[in-house]
Amino acid sequence: MVDLSVRLGDLELQNPVIPASGTFGFGYEFAEIYDINILGGISIKGTTREPRFGNPTPRIAECTSGLINSIGLQNPGIDKVISEELPKLRACYKNPIIANIGGFSIEEYAETCQKIDGEDQVEIIEVNVSCPNVEKENFAESPELVAEVTKAVKRVTTKPVFIKLSPSVTNIVEIAKACEDAGADGISLINTLLGMRIDLKTKKPVINNIKGGFSGPAILPVALRMVYEVYEAVDIPIMGIGGVSSAEDVIEMMLAGASAVQVGAANLVEPYACKNIIEELPEVMKRYNIDSLKNIIGGAH
Ligand code: FUM
Repeated sequence: MVDLSVRLGDLELQNPVIPASGTFGFGYEFAEIYDINILGGISIKGTTREPRFGNPTPRIAECTSGLINSIGLQNPGIDKVISEELPKLRACYKNPIIANIGGFSIEEYAETCQKIDGEDQVEIIEVNVSCPNVEKENFAESPELVAEVTKAVKRVTTKPVFIKLSPSVTNIVEIAKACEDAGADGISLINTLLGMRIDLKTKKPVINNIKGGFSGPAILPVALRMVYEVYEAVDIPIMGIGGVSSAEDVIEMMLAGASAVQVGAANLVEPYACKNIIEELPEVMKRYNIDSLKNIIGGAH
């Protein structure tokens, strides 16, 4: 028997596999196709203070080994998420829920997190400072700004706070350290890389907003490199995200230093992606002589 359980801060997860925010709705939608209680956790659709319609379409472009999205933080707003979406998820799911919070100002992040703090339904707050598809201050690119967001959120909640970082920075270690020094309980990385595509028939950008966030298998090496670097520099847990689509990728991400692993774009291509990965993990662990996932975190260092 192999042991898939991991610790994420004070939380025990039955396995490290977590669907990434924005690729799995509010979770309950997937309960129609499989038992979502097999998941280690769920990071729900990113939520802002006010409802948002999102960016104009087209906002998806397919690429070799991935896709570009420019959704623009479409969501029903925090009040509706609390009153309608979270209860629907809790009705069919008992494992940890990660609320992913977006924002346009430090005050907005704090206000939205304060509302979520009152919700027993949520175990972790993931603060998304790194959405590449909306106009705002570049919180994820400045150690000072990311520290300010972290401090503001920590002041209003006792729940564990993970800051979701952008790969579009020169020094990811400096940014992650700033989060840790400001009191973050963990780091989620990476968000998408900014990219674009051009339609050869129209000779114009495919995405209405011109650019968007590139994700999928092509970005796994970038994510691994950043998780590896950040693991060396911080003492708080990391949720590894970026291009993960197999049990082997999960193990690679954990060897780099991730305590848990989010699966993103793979869910959009294969709705059973997380289920398949969880079912394949024991066999792949045996193949590589791994008894317990807890024991391999950071093993590549
Ligand atoms: O456009 C979006 O809603 C994407 C958000 C993100 O990547 O953080």
